[in-house]
Amino acid sequence: MPSSDSMRPRLNAWLLHRAEAVMHRAYGPRKRAVFRDLPSRVVEIGPGAGANLRYYRPGTRVTAVEPNPAMHAPLRAAAARRGLALEIRELRGEALDLPDESAEAVVGTLVLCSVSDPARVVAEIRRILTPGGRYIFLEHVAAPPLTTLGRWQRLLHGPWQWLFDGCHLHRDTHVTLQRAGFAALDMDCFVLFLPGMPFTPHIFGLARK
Ligand SMILES: C[S@@+](CC[C@H](N)C(=O)[O-])C[C@H]1O[C@@H](n2cnc3c(N)ncnc32)[C@H](O)[C@@H]1O
Repeated sequence: MPSSDSMRPRLNAWLLHRAEAVMHRAYGPRKRAVFRDLPSRVVEIGPGAGANLRYYRPGTRVTAVEPNPAMHAPLRAAAARRGLALEIRELRGEALDLPDESAEAVVGTLVLCSVSDPARVVAEIRRILTPGGRYIFLEHVAAPPLTTLGRWQRLLHGPWQWLFDGCHLHRDTHVTLQRAGFAALDMDCFVLFLPGMPFTPHIFGLARK
């Protein structure tokens, strides 16, 4: 019988795929406004089942850094549907195999919550960006600790992490980004209410090297 550890990556791929329409409604307008100006080559960290691919212009060359192989088939299918040239790297964002200053644009959405070392991933993103290159991010972050939501996030942390393959509900990702040494950081904070879903507030923005 498969162990729960071997089932979790597949469960996560299935959940992400199922959540795509909800995420599109929740984040679509923000993503559309920013993604339309992306250059013809993009590196995406942790693209999952390909929720962002619908916002890239057809013909865009996407290097997808996705360590979960269960995501690769839906990712390939989404890229084919959208007319994108996709190259998948089965790697973690903490150790990218891309050269210094080789990417004009990096995208990462709902991923710094899931990585083992967010500061290391952001340092890697900064390393591969060209001078003036941009990193577009959308992340959920910790609610203030003394609020009801903050308490719920800490209470739910264990089962949530299990169900969503390592996702942390209460990370101070905004602080990680502020400390990362980008030349400019433009960050908008918003609260999203999805019934029963504790992953908010969110930060959305752009960092420039
Ligand atoms: C919550 S999903 C988000 C997927 C997609 N970006 C979205 O917005 O729907 C987190 C993704 O990050 C990936 N991931 C987890 N750890 C990672 C790491 N260390 N480096 C890169 N990606 C990672 C997971 O496999 C998963 O695809």
